[in-house]
Amino acid sequence: MKHLLSLFDITPAQTAEIIELSASLKSEWKQRQLKPTLLGRVLLQIYEKPSLRTRVSFETAIVHLGGAGLFMTEKEAGLHGRESLADVARVTSRFADVVVLRTFSHQLIEDFAAVSSCPVINGLSDDFHPCQALTDLLTLQEATGDLSGKTMVYLGDGNNVAKSLAICCADMGVNFVLSAPDGYQIEPSFFDKIRQRVPGASLVTEPDPIKAVKQADAVYADVWASMGQEAETEKRKKIFAPYQINAKLLAAAPQGVKFMHCLPAKRGLEVTDEIIDGPQSIVFDQAENRMHIARGLFSWLLE
Ligand code: CP
Ligand code: NVA
Repeated sequence: MKHLLSLFDITPAQTAEIIELSASLKSEWKQRQLKPTLLGRVLLQIYEKPSLRTRVSFETAIVHLGGAGLFMTEKEAGLHGRESLADVARVTSRFADVVVLRTFSHQLIEDFAAVSSCPVINGLSDDFHPCQALTDLLTLQEATGDLSGKTMVYLGDGNNVAKSLAICCADMGVNFVLSAPDGYQIEPSFFDKIRQRVPGASLVTEPDPIKAVKQADAVYADVWASMGQEAETEKRKKIFAPYQINAKLLAAAPQGVKFMHCLPAKRGLEVTDEIIDGPQSIVFDQAENRMHIARGLFSWLLE
């Protein structure tokens, strides 16, 4: 049974395979070719957190492939106490062909997948956001032509998005630089785990944002307070202020640098309007590509 709970579940070669398959399905889609390769297949999504891109991209993708999507909140599905989580997983996976979960606890997704009889995809947990990272590398590839030796600089919190991005960059031969304040960095042991799967992976921490962006082909931002951390918003605004991506910071980056963001963005915090709306921004290509990666992923898992 193939699952995608984090990119550690697949090999670097499989990361590249999913991105390539998604790119090829995207070019067919652009020529208005949709093949119903998953006719009658059912996607079930169960979410504990809000979502625009993830929910809609997965639902659109399954429809493009000839299947149908169902959505439930965790309350409706009864993930917490109506019956055991394992029983919810056993029952839902008898109906659905693939389940996407969005949760706080990553362990919940692991526990669900352990007894699921169909593939499970992580649509974001507190620890990982693998589908976002696959999307980001597809988008960088489209924007720069060739990924090899490119440099992705992530500024801000070393969170679920940053960690998945670090793995995906390593898999695709992209240098990853994290620029984060003390206390918000990715643990060295996490980078070591990536180096075990991709020996020689370039994973660097540079707390000075000006130094960090000097060699960037792309600079990447996410919110400073993730879903579930809202109470820390004011505290984080002060800590992360030097990491705002604005015109002054980007003046230290090479000409032609791209701006990326998984969205939703808090405009005026991690990024200014002039950058997210400016010519360097590829954030809406990223958003669209969530759908293409979803199609590639469903095809890869289910066909
Ligand atoms: N990027 C992303 O996962 O967006 P949503 O939270 O809207 O799904
Ligand atoms: N780090 C953010 C990503 C949102 C897509 C969060 O977890 O809320």
